[in-house]
Amino acid sequence: MNKFYHIVTYGCQMNVHESEKIAGILSDMGYESCDSPEKADIVVFNTCCIRENAENHAFGNIGMLKKLKAARKDMIIAVGGCLPQQMNKAENLHEKFPYVDIIFGTHNLHRLKELILKKQRQKKAVIEIDDSEGEICEEDKPLRTSYPNAWVNIMYGCNNFCSYCIVPYVRGRERSRDSAKIIEEVRSLVADGYKEITLLGQNVNSYKGDLSFPRLLEEIAKIDGKFRLRFMTSHPKDFSQELIDVMAKYPKICHCLHLPVQSGSDAILKAMNRKYTAGQYLEKVAALKAKIPDCAITTDLIVGFPGETDEDFKATLELARKVNFSSAFTFVYSKREGTVAAKMENQVHEEVSKARIMQLVDLINSQTRALSQTYIGKTIEILCEDYDEKRGLYLGRDEYGRMGYFASDENLVGQFVNIKVEQANGVSLTGSIVG
Ligand code: SAH
Ligand code: SF4
Ligand code: F3S
Repeated sequence: MNKFYHIVTYGCQMNVHESEKIAGILSDMGYESCDSPEKADIVVFNTCCIRENAENHAFGNIGMLKKLKAARKDMIIAVGGCLPQQMNKAENLHEKFPYVDIIFGTHNLHRLKELILKKQRQKKAVIEIDDSEGEICEEDKPLRTSYPNAWVNIMYGCNNFCSYCIVPYVRGRERSRDSAKIIEEVRSLVADGYKEITLLGQNVNSYKGDLSFPRLLEEIAKIDGKFRLRFMTSHPKDFSQELIDVMAKYPKICHCLHLPVQSGSDAILKAMNRKYTAGQYLEKVAALKAKIPDCAITTDLIVGFPGETDEDFKATLELARKVNFSSAFTFVYSKREGTVAAKMENQVHEEVSKARIMQLVDLINSQTRALSQTYIGKTIEILCEDYDEKRGLYLGRDEYGRMGYFASDENLVGQFVNIKVEQANGVSLTGSIVG
C-alpha cells in the first residue's frame, strides 16, 4: 500500500526550502507526495508567524482538518515551522487543536522521522520544541520541487533584532554553513541541471564562514556551466562596496538585489533598530547604480510602525520615489508578542495604517507599471520555469526578476529562451520567442 504526504507551506523562501527538506525525510520513509489532505496519510503544516495574518491563516487551515481527522483517525497531522517555536505557542496549539499529532519547532525539523515513529507508538501528541540556538544539520537531503531553481541555505538565524521582528526569537542565533559544503552543493546542483541558484539567509551579508559573503559569492560564480546566481536577503547596514564589485564582475550574478529598507524616516529606522539612515541607504543604492546601472532593486516596506507620523510616512514615499524600486513588498506593521516594538506605546491606528498602505501600494504599482512599459519591443532572456494552464503559456523570469509569458509547442522548462516583449500588464510581460 502506498502512503502519501501533503505539505502546506507558509512564509518565506527559508520555509519553502525547509518544506523540501521535510519532503526529503518523508520520501526516505517511503511516503509519496500528493496534492490534497484528503488523500494524505500525513499532512504537515510548515508555518510562519511573521505577521498576525500569517498566523491566522495557518490556524484557519489546521482547524479545517478537524472533520477529516475525525473520519480518518490513522491520519497524522504535524505542525512545524516558526509558529510553534514562539513562546507558549506549542501549548496553545495543542489546547486549541488536540487532534494535531505532532508539534515541532524550527530546531527540530531534522528529527521529524523520529517524531513520526514516536507518534505511531503512542496515543498522546508528540511535542518537541528545542530552545537551543540550533545547530546546523547537514544530514537532510531536500527533495527539490522548484526546478530549474534551487535554494541553497548559506546561514540560519538572525542576530539583528529589528524591534518589530519575531524571526530572531523563532530562528535562533546566526550560524553559517561551511563554505566548502555550500560550494560543493552548488557544484552538484549545476551538474544535475539546475539553472538558477538562490543563496538563502535572513541576512546573507553577515555570513561568517571561513570566507566573507562576497568571497563566497565569487567562488560560486566561478563554477563552470550556464546558471544564474541570486541571493537573499541583504541587510542594508552590511551591504558593501566589495559585494557590489563582485556582483559587477561576474555575469552569472543577476543584476537584481533585494534590499529591504522598511522606512524612509530616520526616526522610525532608529526605533526599528535598523542601524542605517535613509541617507545611508540612498548612498548604497547610488554606489550600486554607479557600478551596475541596470541593477533592479526590490525592497520591503512597513507602514504604521509605532509612532509613525504623517511626516515619517511622507519620507517613506519620498524614498520610494527616489529609488524607483522595480517592485516592493509592502506590509502593515503587525504587533508581535515578545518583540521590543510590541511594548511601544504610540501604536498607529488601523485606519491610518490602511490609508497609508493604499497610498504606498499605488506609488509602487505605478513605478512597476512604468518600468514594465519600458520593456516593450525589447528582447529579454527568460529562464523558463513553468507552464500556466489557465493562460496556456510558458513563463519564467529575466535576470532582473521580471515575469515573462510566451507560447511554445515544446516544453521549455529549464531552458533559457529569448523573447521579444509585446505587452506589459502591470508586473508581467508577454512576448514571442525569437531566434
Ligand atoms: N530577513 C529579512 C526578511 C525578514 S521578514 C530582512 O531582514 O529583510 C520579511 C519582511 O517582513 C521584512 O523585511 C519586513 O518588511 C516584514 N516584517 C517583519 N516583521 C514584521 C511585522 N511585525 N509587521 C509587519 N511586517 C513585518
Ligand atoms: Fe527580522 Fe531584521 Fe532579522 Fe530581517 S534582519 S529577520 S527584519 S530581525
Ligand atoms: Fe515567516 Fe519564519 Fe520566514 S516567521 S517569514 S517563515 S523565518
